[in-house]
Amino acid sequence: MQPDPAALHAAAVRIMARCDELARYSSLATGIERVYLSPEHARVNRVAARWMREVGLDTWQDEAGNQCGHLPGRDPDAPSLLLGSHLDTVRDAGRFDGILGVLMAIEVVRALGPRWRTAPIGLDVVAFWDEEGARFGTALLGSSAMAGLWKPEWWDLTDEHGTTLRTAFHEFGLDPGRIGAAARPAHTLAGYLEAHIEQGPDLDRGNAPLGVVTSIASARRFAVTIEGEARHAGGTRYEDRRDALLGASEVALAVERLCRAQHHIVGTVGRLETFPGAVNVVPGEARLTVDLRGEHDDHRDRVWRDISTELDQIAGRRGLRWSATELHEAPAVWCDGLLQDVVRAGIEDTGARDVPTMFSRAGHDAMAIGAVTGVGMLFLRNPDGISHHPAESVSLADVETGLTALTATVEHLAREAA
Ligand code: GLV
Ligand code: MN
Ligand code: MN
Repeated sequence: MQPDPAALHAAAVRIMARCDELARYSSLATGIERVYLSPEHARVNRVAARWMREVGLDTWQDEAGNQCGHLPGRDPDAPSLLLGSHLDTVRDAGRFDGILGVLMAIEVVRALGPRWRTAPIGLDVVAFWDEEGARFGTALLGSSAMAGLWKPEWWDLTDEHGTTLRTAFHEFGLDPGRIGAAARPAHTLAGYLEAHIEQGPDLDRGNAPLGVVTSIASARRFAVTIEGEARHAGGTRYEDRRDALLGASEVALAVERLCRAQHHIVGTVGRLETFPGAVNVVPGEARLTVDLRGEHDDHRDRVWRDISTELDQIAGRRGLRWSATELHEAPAVWCDGLLQDVVRAGIEDTGARDVPTMFSRAGHDAMAIGAVTGVGMLFLRNPDGISHHPAESVSLADVETGLTALTATVEHLAREAA
């Protein structure tokens, strides 16, 4: 059915205004940061729940802190198509990563809700938490809980203040013992669809507002500790030094060199701390993170093996010791064929031809949810491809087109399910 142009425009304007509104819920005085199980998490869930109820969804917060909403179709026991994304952010984030997908999902329900009573499947909206892993290092916690992938060892993860995930659950008012109840059995789901800004420049450079995602890159994250010896900066000759920072610096350069040598692999050292961290002391310990992304798991794993070999060599040369803890591992996930087809059909309904297809280099909740149901993603053009940065943006016109496409995608899927 053709969307009402005035209603569609109003929905896109509302989405942009709400992205601005949510940007105000932040733990930073200037800039955006919302992490898992924080006061901002609780506040934003309340706001999102109100917006979900406004469009007719029954709402609840699940046992992992995800904000959920449900609209039944004609059969209350039929599985639901899950639409959504995440509301947590990285530090000093933009205002669209994740948030846009949740708000677009709510507007799809607003547009289709009155007609959904006759649909063969239910329609759920989910606002996940901790897609980014900004607080506890391990990403996709909320979506992993929903996919039934929760690992008991996660309870002992700590944030930068030493608070364990278990304690954070209690402080937030959630019961760790009930985490299993957040899992959605596969038979209750008819698929997962997520709209997201592209976190790279390909659509922008290709002059296309929307694209179909074919797969999501695999990821691994490590915390690496390098131990040397802290000694006097004046009294210690070079030949007597075991400088952990110089070792870590070589590692950071090796990560870049080894990743560049592979096809479609990127590696990032995003955090580096030294101890004791004094101007007149040779660094005795360095801690750094390594984030690896690849289109294929085996390429990503080969690079980690190469980095480990290089770490052995650097440590051997410099008299250092190293160890690594894996913080996060997510295999590459292929988007479901039918969902790719309906996303393409939805985009074509906006008048587009030669719709671009692309693999997502960034991680998404779909990676976890893919363990229980088929997943599909629609990307929106991101000017200059900048993301995880306050300058992240998307145009009102593209949100309007994206909403048309997402709504049409859901309608195509409902027809396929009939
Ligand atoms: C999430 O945005 C990630 O890819 O790190
Ligand atoms: Mn992100
Ligand atoms: Mn995201």
